[in-house]
Amino acid sequence: VPGLNAVANAAGKLYFGTATDNPELNDTAYTTILDNNRQFGQITPANSMKWDATEPNPGNFTFEGGDVIRDLARRNGQILRGHNCVWYSQLPDWVAFGNFTFDELIGIVENHCGTLVGHYRGQMYAWDVINEAFNDDGTFRQDVFFNVTGTAYIPAALRAARQADPHAKLYINDYNTEGTGNKSTALQNLIKELKRDGVPIDGVGFQCHFEVGGVPTTLVENFRAYEALGVEFAVTELDVRMTLPETDALLEQQKKDYQSVIDACMAVPACVGVTIWDFTDKYSWVPGAFPGWGAADPWDENLVKKPAYDGIVIGFEDR
Ligand code: G3I
Repeated sequence: VPGLNAVANAAGKLYFGTATDNPELNDTAYTTILDNNRQFGQITPANSMKWDATEPNPGNFTFEGGDVIRDLARRNGQILRGHNCVWYSQLPDWVAFGNFTFDELIGIVENHCGTLVGHYRGQMYAWDVINEAFNDDGTFRQDVFFNVTGTAYIPAALRAARQADPHAKLYINDYNTEGTGNKSTALQNLIKELKRDGVPIDGVGFQCHFEVGGVPTTLVENFRAYEALGVEFAVTELDVRMTLPETDALLEQQKKDYQSVIDACMAVPACVGVTIWDFTDKYSWVPGAFPGWGAADPWDENLVKKPAYDGIVIGFEDR
């Protein structure tokens, strides 16, 4: 097999990609795989373009970490997804606890998104402009942005991003929106409203942080509903975690789960590509966030391919 991106391209998808993070780039066994654009045609920075990394103090922008990822993708001929402009997490205290007025916070959001997206103008395939705006029940998350501006920060961020880079696709990215349900319905309603109001919105990111055996059965039905709204979409942060220790049975189910997600992307033409949230268990975010869980990625901690790798290939090839 020539590589996951090669297989995805042959199947008509724009890319198969991975997240990566700056500290991992010293690991040459890791970067040898990362740098192979037949394996990964797209890169997402896992942390270094977030608000705390790019504007730690008001108006004080630092792009060093993000630029390192940008440069490596450029060198490798890999396209980039920017992640992200507005998110309640990894937000510097000056934003989270700033006690701003409506006008002040809208101005801060516009300046952050405009400056960040403008810095990478012409270099990004897409941006996750809005990340995780909803609660799981479909109400808006009561974060600082919503508490101060209601939903006004969303069109403000999207318009600022469009103005800063007219060529980047502007996405809203979230989790637990992959299957049908209240949260997905709420996201669809937001997209309809934005389109009605003439706000730029091009795409939807489905994070797809799943548990083994827990891939929603309504993926395709749900994805088609977004296609019908006239937006493209992507799988943006795929991984499939399991309880540790890993067993052959869990690894086999995980292979099927990866394949199901690729199958769903293949079933709906508006799905442009798939990104895994790093490719090796060595650098997965999962064990840190879910003690007792892990082994979520297609390469193990020794950078050896797992059955999940074949599940991805089968998903793209077997039709
Ligand atoms: O930067 C500090 C470092 O100074 C300190 O020494 C170290 C000690 O723990 O922590 C470092 O910060 C960590 C940061 O990643 C950078 O490595 C945080 O503790 C850690 O919580 C943070 O985790 C990131 C997480 O987002 C934060 O919510 C993960 O790497 C990143 O993969 C993850 O990505 C998110 C997406 O952005 C959105 N969707 C969910 C996804 C998984 O949580």
